[in-house]
Amino acid sequence: MSRRAAVLVARGVFPEVLERLVQHFDVEANADDSVWPAAELSARLLGKAGVFTTGSERIDAELLDAHPQLRAVCNMAVGYNNIDLDACTARGVLVSNTPDVLTETTADFGFALMMAAARRITEGEHFLRAGQWTKWSFDMLAGAEVHGTRLGVLGMGRIGQAIARRGALGFGMPVIYHNRSRLDPAIEQQLGARWVGKAELLREADHLVIVVPYSPQSHHLIGAAELAQMKPGATLTNIARGGVVDDAALAQALRDRRIAAAGLDVFEGEPSVHPDLLTLPNVVLTPHIASASIATRLAMANLAADNLIAALGCGPQAGRPPTALNPQVLAAQP
Ligand code: DGY
Repeated sequence: MSRRAAVLVARGVFPEVLERLVQHFDVEANADDSVWPAAELSARLLGKAGVFTTGSERIDAELLDAHPQLRAVCNMAVGYNNIDLDACTARGVLVSNTPDVLTETTADFGFALMMAAARRITEGEHFLRAGQWTKWSFDMLAGAEVHGTRLGVLGMGRIGQAIARRGALGFGMPVIYHNRSRLDPAIEQQLGARWVGKAELLREADHLVIVVPYSPQSHHLIGAAELAQMKPGATLTNIARGGVVDDAALAQALRDRRIAAAGLDVFEGEPSVHPDLLTLPNVVLTPHIASASIATRLAMANLAADNLIAALGCGPQAGRPPTALNPQVLAAQP
């Protein structure tokens, strides 16, 4: 009888998903869901053929070199900037992420965050809870219009398109977008979306939603210079990754009312948040929960498990992990 492979589940996960993994592997699970420091992650990877990760675990060349037995890294996130994909590919390690299953849920949240920032929803709630609501006033907590205004999307992948669809079809918003590659004209037409250069996007959007993946190229894609080009009454929403926006520059722009408001679900150095952002009323702050509906998180966890099971040659999709990022490595594995 062949020995079962050993796998590591680096963070807490739904019990039913853990149970699925236990059916195939010897599983070491992270019982208390703590974020293991790099040295502890490395120690726990000894002898493991696969690892179930989240965005919190850094998988880099140094770690891979210490664990030549590792064959699969399956991330429970669509973003995989925590993983050095090239280093994995060069060492024949399969990497997967969880696209598609979170698209609509994440777009719902991005739209909600944009609306909350524009319509000052959390500011209004704090005002009410603080007992400051003593009378009606003509301009009390009056915010920016949403319906019929121009929606700007930076990064027009699956989630960007789902946000554009919400804006165009639900809120009558003309959509402009900027992306490295243009959408197929038929999709542009469906979404009522027009490709523009980055400068025009910044200048013309009433509400800018950022959905680009993080990479060294997208680091501080929005900094002081870009914020200075935005409309004074505009809002900015970031559901992409911390680091795409320069948070210190954004805090300054919000304080100076260079732009009206922001909605942020992701932060540079999260879970730490730039202290200036915490002091400002015109920013809505949430703790990286855009994909966090129960159904979607379960779907993400199951998809990451499907990938791990298949990547290590088990289950009905053995050898064909459904959302592999570098499937070519499987052909070369023994
Ligand atoms: C993703 O899937 O990349 C999210 O940001 C993590 O929840």
